Amino acid sequence: MDTKNFIERFYAKYGNRNIKPVLFFSPGRVNLIGEHTDYNGGFVFPCALNYGTYLLIRGIDSNILKFSTINFDDDAETELKGLFVNTKKRWINYPLGVINEFLKRDIKISGLEFLYYGDVPNGAGLSSSASIEMVTAVALNEIFNAGFNTLDLVKMSQKAENEFVGMNCGIMDQFAVGFGKKDHAIFLNCDTLSYENVPVILNDCSLIITNTNKRRGLTDSKYNERRGECDKAVELLQAYKPIRNLSELNVGDIPLLEKYIKDPVVRKRAKHVISENGRATEAVKVLKENNIKRFGELMNSSHDSLKDDYEVTGFELDTLVYEGRKLPGVLGTRMTGAGFGGCTISIVKRADAVKFMSDLSTVYKEKTGLVPDFYQPEIGDGARRLE
Ligand code: GLA
Repeated sequence: MDTKNFIERFYAKYGNRNIKPVLFFSPGRVNLIGEHTDYNGGFVFPCALNYGTYLLIRGIDSNILKFSTINFDDDAETELKGLFVNTKKRWINYPLGVINEFLKRDIKISGLEFLYYGDVPNGAGLSSSASIEMVTAVALNEIFNAGFNTLDLVKMSQKAENEFVGMNCGIMDQFAVGFGKKDHAIFLNCDTLSYENVPVILNDCSLIITNTNKRRGLTDSKYNERRGECDKAVELLQAYKPIRNLSELNVGDIPLLEKYIKDPVVRKRAKHVISENGRATEAVKVLKENNIKRFGELMNSSHDSLKDDYEVTGFELDTLVYEGRKLPGVLGTRMTGAGFGGCTISIVKRADAVKFMSDLSTVYKEKTGLVPDFYQPEIGDGARRLE
């Protein structure tokens, strides 16, 4: 939607053309490699997209917060009178959770009108949630002169998601949408939060995101179950080394897992996390050497490990990945995000991209009865004011 149109929608909703709303944007993200490692203190390699969430926001002389979105018909109004509690209108919990983090830090919030518009698909593993949290955080920070830096806003948004929304995610998504940099991916150490922006130069290839369009049902509970299994692994491995998280071990330690972890499921989970950290580290190294072929191979092994050892893929994601790999020009393809549905990310030769999308669409429809969506994203900047 163009800005002029968006602003017209704002006036149509809230009136008063004399005071212009301010426009903010926060991207979605796609993770190239390093999956289910963030909450284990490991490495991730996401990048921000040119798709995301737009927010028009304006202060009003009252104690009311008014929320509306162009994406669906579900407005809400609420009075400012202390901390908020989780509401039944699910999407409003994201901004309310963020507002709570400001209130908890004694930032005085007064009446506001919000109009959101998102062009990243919801619940598809592209961080639509982190995107709406961060766009709200960046806007409130500026409007109320709160003085938080990007890392503060990232942590506040993650807290909103963990404590208010109730999804126990790691820090990758909020970090990627906060710190995104055009044409770069972020190699982030989720333990120390040190990071490096690495240029994504793919020669004659491009990134293609494919949405399974499978409804994600049990994602949150399965996600929390995986976190629990990793905690269990850490506890057992303390008999071997006094570790705080699985990422303190490296690929050379994998043969020892059998000795310390008797439960084969917990052992597989630990193996995934440790091997995935190894793959993410190598992937960044080979990308810097412009070895896209090896980068693609590592993406493929990442998916295999997420399927066999971490068990977070499922029929739809596996169909896209294993059918995709049979097509010409595909260097690598894997699930991205939490899994159980959502999207895959593939590196495909530009010359084969159109055929990839049409052939994969046909076979995916045949096998699953679902119609996939394709995106050829650009890598964009992080959350910011637009005008
Ligand atoms: C979700 C979470 C992230 C991360 C990924 C898996 O996107 O929000 O914190 O754990 O899953 O890598």
